[in-house]
Amino acid sequence: MTTCHGPSRRFLLQSALVASALPFLPRISLASASAPTELVAKPGKASLWEEGGPLADIWGYDGGVPGPVLRMRQGETLRVNFRNELDQPSTIHWHGIRIDNAYDGVAGLTQEPVEPGQTFEYLVKAPDAGTFWYHPHNRSWEQMARGLYGVLIVEESEPVAVDRDLVMVFDDWRLDEARQIDVASLGMLHDWAHAGRLGNVLTVNGQPYLKQTVTPGERLRLRVLNTANARVLQLRFAGLAPVVLALDGQPVEPYPLADEILEIAPAQRCDLMIDMPGEAGVFKVEEVSRDPFAACELRAEGEPIARTAPLPETLRLPGNPLASALDLEGALSVDLLMEGGAMGRMGAAMLHGERKGMRELMEAGKVWSFNGIAGSHHDPALFSTALGRTVRMPIVNDTRWPHAIHLHGHHFKVLSRNGAPVAREEWRDTVLTAPGERVEIAFVADNPGKWMLHCHMLEHQAAGMMSWFEVS
Ligand code: C2O
Ligand code: CU
Repeated sequence: MTTCHGPSRRFLLQSALVASALPFLPRISLASASAPTELVAKPGKASLWEEGGPLADIWGYDGGVPGPVLRMRQGETLRVNFRNELDQPSTIHWHGIRIDNAYDGVAGLTQEPVEPGQTFEYLVKAPDAGTFWYHPHNRSWEQMARGLYGVLIVEESEPVAVDRDLVMVFDDWRLDEARQIDVASLGMLHDWAHAGRLGNVLTVNGQPYLKQTVTPGERLRLRVLNTANARVLQLRFAGLAPVVLALDGQPVEPYPLADEILEIAPAQRCDLMIDMPGEAGVFKVEEVSRDPFAACELRAEGEPIARTAPLPETLRLPGNPLASALDLEGALSVDLLMEGGAMGRMGAAMLHGERKGMRELMEAGKVWSFNGIAGSHHDPALFSTALGRTVRMPIVNDTRWPHAIHLHGHHFKVLSRNGAPVAREEWRDTVLTAPGERVEIAFVADNPGKWMLHCHMLEHQAAGMMSWFEVS
C-alpha cells in the first residue's frame, strides 16, 4: 500500500497522538466597503504533521492556512484587494455567495486570470447570511491542495443568540516522507480517474490536532466546512447531540444529526448548534468513514456558564432572501449525465468540439464527461435561460464514484433522490451524489451572467466534469 491510498498511517497515528494544548486563534477581519481588505496569495509555512513538528511549504492567503477568517454583515459589500504573489496565475472565487457575476472569480469565464505580481479588486456583496468560503478558481486542484482557501462569514443583521461562534474547517493533505506537500503526485491521472486526490493527514483550522476550549453549558454555533480537494468526511460528534441549523449557508428547519454523524462533501458547509453538557469534559470529534480517528476535540473546562434565564429549546436562523418560489410546471428542464472515470462505461466524449476516444481523451487529461462532453471553459454553454425562469435539473451519476456537484451564483433546492422526495427542505450550492444515484434539483435563475457548474472533487473538475450556463 502506498501513502496515497487506503487508510493512512497518519490517520491511525493521529488517534494516539497527544498534542499539547494550543487553542485556535483565528485571524479575523471585520471588513467593510470603506476599508478594503488586502488578501495576498503567497508561499508560506505550516506545521501540518504534528504540533510544533516539521514545517511544510504551503501556498496560503497572507501566507497562512487557512487564510484569514473574513467577517462581514449581510447586505454589505466587502472590498477585497487581491494580490497574486505566486508564480502562476490565480483568482478568488467566493464560494456560495450569490455574487455579481463580474466578481465570481472564474478564470477564463468571468475574468482574466490574475498574473503573478498583479492585483484585482473584488466587490463581494452578500445577500445571504451564513457560512461561506473563498478559494482560487484557476488550477484549483493544485492551488487548493497547496493550501489556498479561507472562511467567509456573513453575519445575520440581528445577532444570533449563542454563547460562542466557532469555525472548524477540515482539510486533508497528501504529505510525503519529508512531511512536505507531495507535489510529485499533483496532476496524477490515476487520482483524476478515481476518487480524486485523497490525503493522508487531516487538519482542522490548519492544525494537526485542534483543541478547542469551551465552557460547560455553553450554546455553540459550530461552522463546519470541508475544503478538501476530494475527500467526503463523516464526522462523529459523540456525546454532543448536534442540531443542524444551516446547510451551505442556508438555514433549515433545525433537526438533530442522526447518530451524531455529519456527512460533509468537499465544499459543503454545515452550521451546527451544540449545547455543551453542564460538566467539564473532553469531547473528541472523530472521522469515521474508515477506522475512526480523532480529528480534534472540544474541551469543556471551568465552571458552567451562569444563566439568568433558561435557553430556548432550539435556535432558528432567520431566513435568507432566496427566490424560493419554484415554478416547476413552467421550468426549463436540463438533464445532467455524469460519465467516465475508472471502471466507468465511457468510451468516447467530445473534446473541444471533436469526438475523441478514451486514449486521446486521457492524453489531454480528460477522463470524465457531462452530457458526453469532456468539459473545459472553451465549450459552449450547457444551457441558457431567461432571467427569473425556474430550472430543474435531474442529475444522473452513471459512474462508480461519488461526485459533489456545485452551481455558481445560485442556491438550489434538492427535490428528490432516486425518485423519492427528500424528507426535509434543503437549499444548497453543492450536492453529493452517490454512484448510480439520480438527484433532482431546481432553482430560480435570478442572477444574470455566466455561471460555472462542476464537480467539486477538483481533479474531476479538471478532468472534464465542468460546464457553465448563462442567465440573461
Ligand atoms: Cu468552490 Cu467553482 O467552486
Ligand atoms: Cu466528481
